[in-house]
Amino acid sequence: MKGKFIVLEGIDGCGKTTQINELYKWLPKSGLINKNATLIKTREPGGSILGREIRDMILNNNKSNSPSILTELLLYSADRAEHISKVILPALQNGNWIISDRFSGSTLAYQGYGREISIDIIKKLENIVCQNIKPDLTIFLEISPEESILRRKNKVADRIESEGLEFLKKVNHGFKLIALENNWEIIKASEDLTSIAQQIQKSLINKFSLNK
Ligand code: TMP
Repeated sequence: MKGKFIVLEGIDGCGKTTQINELYKWLPKSGLINKNATLIKTREPGGSILGREIRDMILNNNKSNSPSILTELLLYSADRAEHISKVILPALQNGNWIISDRFSGSTLAYQGYGREISIDIIKKLENIVCQNIKPDLTIFLEISPEESILRRKNKVADRIESEGLEFLKKVNHGFKLIALENNWEIIKASEDLTSIAQQIQKSLINKFSLNK
């Protein structure tokens, strides 16, 4: 694989989307990317054409149509399978760089630790879905569950965001364990936006400047 795959993870409201937009502006000027490589910004769920329909299905707040937890896991997995086949794999094979807002770590944290589906089952499914694709770098933006809820208090919550504090605590705990187990870069995300952006840039420089 010639391209690079960078993922940002964290609980809702941790500021991933803002930081991804900053990274997307900074990376082309950083000198890290080969001149003829394209930089792609994407997300899960919803990074492919079919995935956008799956995203609407999963996050829809219509209580009468809520998926079971197993269906939810399979929908996130279907979204990822499509995202990998249609977007991530072709981009990496062509030497392009990808920044993704969430990837398989989110399934382990939300469906594994949050919904309490067996971690073993999730990892087996991940092996099938991911086709050996692993992020080159995953950055975990860490905020407390209380702060997550406070930051989103004026926004309409989607189905997962509506789960509340106890659920978020389990997910956040899961993210921390997964981050430590997999050597993710952990960045405290309650600091100011510029300092977080600089820390993210530093981790990319450390990771990629030798492998240009
Ligand atoms: P977003 O708000 O970051 O776009 O993510 C949508 C929601 O989906 C968010 O609450 C986290 C959740 N999610 C899972 O539960 N499992 C997954 O595998 C992914 C990718 C997201």
